[in-house]
Amino acid sequence: MLSISELPEIDFSSEAYQKRPFQTLAEHARKWRIARSKRGVEILDYDICRNMILDRRFGTGHPKLMHLLGLPEGRALNYKRESISFYNRGDKRRKLRQPIARLMSPHASEAFRQDIKDVVADIISDIPTHTRVDLIEALCDPTPSRVYCYWVGADKGDASYIARTSHTVQQVHTRDPEKTPEIVEAFESLLDYADARIAAAREAPSDNLISDLVRAANNDEFTDDDLRNWVIKLAEANTDNSSHQIASTIIELASRPAIWQRLREDPDAIPIAVNEVMRIHPRSISTSREALEDVEIGGVHIAKGTPVFANIGAAHWDERYYPEPEKFSLERAGQPAHLNFGGGVFSCLGRYAITIEVEEVVRYMTQTFPRIRLDKAEFSHSPMFTNVTDLHATLAPLS
Ligand code: HEM
Repeated sequence: MLSISELPEIDFSSEAYQKRPFQTLAEHARKWRIARSKRGVEILDYDICRNMILDRRFGTGHPKLMHLLGLPEGRALNYKRESISFYNRGDKRRKLRQPIARLMSPHASEAFRQDIKDVVADIISDIPTHTRVDLIEALCDPTPSRVYCYWVGADKGDASYIARTSHTVQQVHTRDPEKTPEIVEAFESLLDYADARIAAAREAPSDNLISDLVRAANNDEFTDDDLRNWVIKLAEANTDNSSHQIASTIIELASRPAIWQRLREDPDAIPIAVNEVMRIHPRSISTSREALEDVEIGGVHIAKGTPVFANIGAAHWDERYYPEPEKFSLERAGQPAHLNFGGGVFSCLGRYAITIEVEEVVRYMTQTFPRIRLDKAEFSHSPMFTNVTDLHATLAPLS
């Protein structure tokens, strides 16, 4: 059995990774199933990744992440400690997830579709045409943050605050302690924001998500603290991830005019296209776990407490499962599901809702703008995420 120190080392700061992240991960994966990096053990093989994500011997990496960031004692750390991110497998985690899993199930998320359509139509109708536009500002940030506002019964004017705050709190994944003060400030602000939204929902209940959450708390499905933590968690997890995924979807599709045209003529192909974007260019390049006990996987001994990362980016470019992985194809069939949303008891609870959001953005954009010119599209890839750092485009509507 190999020890971690005998594993080959991956360098995420290398020029190769910075320039061609997915090709580089796929090249590593052809040579090694498991490697190591500065942050911990790196799983590269699709099967081991999927099995590790589901494996009960691995738990959440969040407590260690907060320790690494040096979050001071106070409201932000208390929120983190009590929120779902700190709970491993077991009753409390199951109890916390159940109401949200119900309220954001495939069926329940489908019920959001018409409102999501309305939000998307409203946002896109405001985007100027025949001129260079910053699509992150005009489309990618506002879409998920406006959907969040609709969920929590807030005015759409709150959307830019939600987007900004979500981007800040997601900086935890940079693992950079210099970011800690602004992260703490953003969490504290979200705590106050959540309290205000809950008070408003209690005073005037309606048929939105936050009122359903209040009803779940009233029925003792979870405590008032859990309720507030969920309102924050949904803001935290929602906007940043979704904005980057919407942006990379636009870039991947608009840079292939034949595909853009095909989706315009055949909107039924949009879910397949969105699925393929999430495979070829996922927002999540890895997801983290920590070994809860000494474990052996793929012939490697992993000691209790070791951070372990499922490299979703490597798994998605595994040619054994996705022949010619660098090719964007609407014809893939019988291949395993992408891992963009993780899996098992830690899986993304917003996966159905955000997939609908991306689909509706693509539907509206392809229908309204037969031609879209990408003026500037830039990415940066951390070990954890695909980030779209610049997206400027010129849109040409139907004449
Ligand atoms: C494209 C956008 C998104 C991506 C790529 C994404 C990805 C992920 C990933 C990889 C995880 C961890 C899964 C694991 O470790 O197995 C996660 C967790 C989570 N996501 Fe998402 N997510 C997105 C959007 C959303 C949205 C829109 C929401 C809510 C409205 C959401 C809510 C959550 C929650 C609550 C968790 C924590 C679940 C738990 O700890 O039990 N996400 N997400």
